[in-house]
Amino acid sequence: MNLTHPFSLDVWSRKQLAAVETALSTWVTADPVPALGWGAPQGLVQAMRYAVLDGGKRLRPLLALAAFEAVAAPDTPNHPSAALRAACAVELIHAYSLVHDDMPCMDNDVLRRGKPTVHVQFGEAGALLAGDALQALAFELLTPDDGSVPLAVQGRLCALLARAAGSTGMAGGQAIDLASVGQALNEQALRHMHQLKTGALLQASVMLGAACGQASDQARRALSGYGQALGLAFQVVDDVLDVTADSATLGKTAGKDADNDKPTYVSLMGLENSQRYAQDLLAQAHAALGASGLSNTAALAGLADMVVHRSH
Ligand code: IPE
Ligand code: IPE
Ligand code: MG
Ligand code: MG
Ligand code: MG
Repeated sequence: MNLTHPFSLDVWSRKQLAAVETALSTWVTADPVPALGWGAPQGLVQAMRYAVLDGGKRLRPLLALAAFEAVAAPDTPNHPSAALRAACAVELIHAYSLVHDDMPCMDNDVLRRGKPTVHVQFGEAGALLAGDALQALAFELLTPDDGSVPLAVQGRLCALLARAAGSTGMAGGQAIDLASVGQALNEQALRHMHQLKTGALLQASVMLGAACGQASDQARRALSGYGQALGLAFQVVDDVLDVTADSATLGKTAGKDADNDKPTYVSLMGLENSQRYAQDLLAQAHAALGASGLSNTAALAGLADMVVHRSH
């Protein structure tokens, strides 16, 4: 840490977020693709941009970029342009998961990021297709054919993101979530569901960033542990906020978990125990960073604090 200029998560985040917003706005576009001679249909791109731009905490991109910075060392092959692509790709998968999560066949929500949900604005078929196209676009971002990202790095990034998003990650967790409505899961089953539906993509955000730099085995193991603890903490806090925060603050409808009869940490162990558990997980995340052998972890540490202490 530089003692003359102590690290500020706010200052660091503002700079990263500016780059992420510009990149997302550039990449989610209806502009014609020169090699094809046509672009995506305007209506579809409008729904995609509505889902992705102007909203969200962008936690996943920030984690990817923070992990990249933590492992990027001078005089070794690092890939900053790949890190920005990975940061945006994971946000596209996240945005798609929210679009589908809100649909009437899943959580049936009408408010997201302070706006009407995508299916309310564009219809169910529009929301379904916007989600599909966002998922595909994520993998397009990871595979530029301009030589800017080595093929081996592209392959690693695609594998990490595909596994986190698919049937043994987010989509699998969402399936368990829907199958668990009205059931009282035990702690092990609830943890498994949360790790898949939310934790996997957050952990992958960290590992995607790390894959764009040169992480030692020790650092990779530690970052994986950090991502796992943070990912679970995130969903525990999401469950807590559903009970303690209001819709205006959250930008999504509060109280939906109880309304939909979802098993959550709050329904399993109560509010105070859930808050205590989130603190335990935060301590685990910090301990993992401490064991990483990395020195540039202030952003990762700050993001973990933010996850647990956030108000929305
Ligand atoms: C909400 O995620 C959905 C869950 C995975 C629990 P975020 O709270 O990160 O949503 P945005 O991106 O800030 O809108
Ligand atoms: C959503 O969990 C997880 C994914 C979108 C994959 P929730 O259903 O709890 O998310 P919110 O509360 O609607 O944001
Ligand atoms: Mg849900
Ligand atoms: Mg939901
Ligand atoms: Mg929730």
